[in-house]
Amino acid sequence: MTRVALAFSGGLDTTVCVPLLKEEYGHDEVVGVTVDVGQPESEFEEAEETAEALGLEHYVVDAKEEFADLCFDAVKANATYQGYPLGTALARPVIAEAILEVAKEQDCDAVAHGCTGKGNDQLRFETVWRDSDLEVIAPVRELGLTREWEIEYADERDLPVEAGDGGVWSIDTNIWSRAVEGGELEDPSYVPPEDIYEWTAEPEGETTIQVEFEAGVPVAVDGEAMAPVELIQYLNEYAGKYGVGRTDVMEDRMLGLKVRENYEHPAATVLLTAHKALEDLVLTKGERSSKEGIEQEWSEMAYKGLVFAPVVDALEAYVDETQDVVTGTATVKVQAGSCRAVARDSEYAVYSEEMASFNTEDVAGISQEDATGVAKYHGLQERLANNVKEGVTKPELATDGGNGSNDGNDETNE
Ligand code: ARG
Repeated sequence: MTRVALAFSGGLDTTVCVPLLKEEYGHDEVVGVTVDVGQPESEFEEAEETAEALGLEHYVVDAKEEFADLCFDAVKANATYQGYPLGTALARPVIAEAILEVAKEQDCDAVAHGCTGKGNDQLRFETVWRDSDLEVIAPVRELGLTREWEIEYADERDLPVEAGDGGVWSIDTNIWSRAVEGGELEDPSYVPPEDIYEWTAEPEGETTIQVEFEAGVPVAVDGEAMAPVELIQYLNEYAGKYGVGRTDVMEDRMLGLKVRENYEHPAATVLLTAHKALEDLVLTKGERSSKEGIEQEWSEMAYKGLVFAPVVDALEAYVDETQDVVTGTATVKVQAGSCRAVARDSEYAVYSEEMASFNTEDVAGISQEDATGVAKYHGLQERLANNVKEGVTKPELATDGGNGSNDGNDETNE
């Protein structure tokens, strides 16, 4: 008697996986697991209904809080990949962990997903699952299933899949982002119609939003303290009304394929913009520039679904070391789809109005005149190097066309 836990959404792929896991892989029982990372209510209804119609043993696990904490780690790391705030990428390891837990509790021998062999998600799920003793099954990839085959198979077996229009787009939603791909969007020259967007209104109108941070973590919006999940959901709705947080990217997937993806993520855009604005006030130049490299690496690992890797702990140790002072507020203006910082305030500002102002006299024993010595030295090496170069003859130019003289007019010598 063997049991397999299947990542189950109730969509076409995972629905056809249920009988296939028995017929093709010889398992006796299938357990469906749906993990809540903030999908719309309708998706849970679809999963429940389909599970019932299939007679599938079905579990729903709420992982929203854990996921929101990971989103806030992403805020501290100012994380984006090619302009996308990593919603799907960050959710996958959380979902994979939750499914593995259910699989173990329910005495399963295997875990399965309905991902295709072309995308990133297969890799993100499996890296978590392959750390266990359970067998890992990927029916869609392993059996080379196509959408048409699945539709026909579902029809033959009378499986409970929505007739025909499983929607024109392939959509993946969680609290951090809503991703839309497929259909006509696969043509990079196709301009998306307004109706691919659900979270963001057609960009118009404007407002300002103030976000309060404590050690880099968002804790309040416009003076109102909120828990992580609530804060993200509130901002998705509020900032979404102003059309903020849309991206249309040519995304380089892990397997090398380029895909066109559309995303909406109002809360992520507001929080990332505000966080960065506050950091700009409180971090030193050295911290700001070295952190950019760290952020890039954190984001790459997150994209690959490897947030549980040791190197990510090390990168986060760096990030956390910088975040103690990221306490205060930043205000963004959301306006006709754009989001930009317009104010920031912190008791830890590395900023002295007195020193920077044009109107004050000597501060901390330093006067304007003291800059004279600095001005004399500034660029010394570059001036010296340019003078030396003037005396250098360029051999290839000397032979070219017989005109040996270099009059320093570089543009003509390209
Ligand atoms: N390309 C993105 C990623 O790999 C998101 C994929 C979202 N899936 C979808 N069906 N729209 O992170």
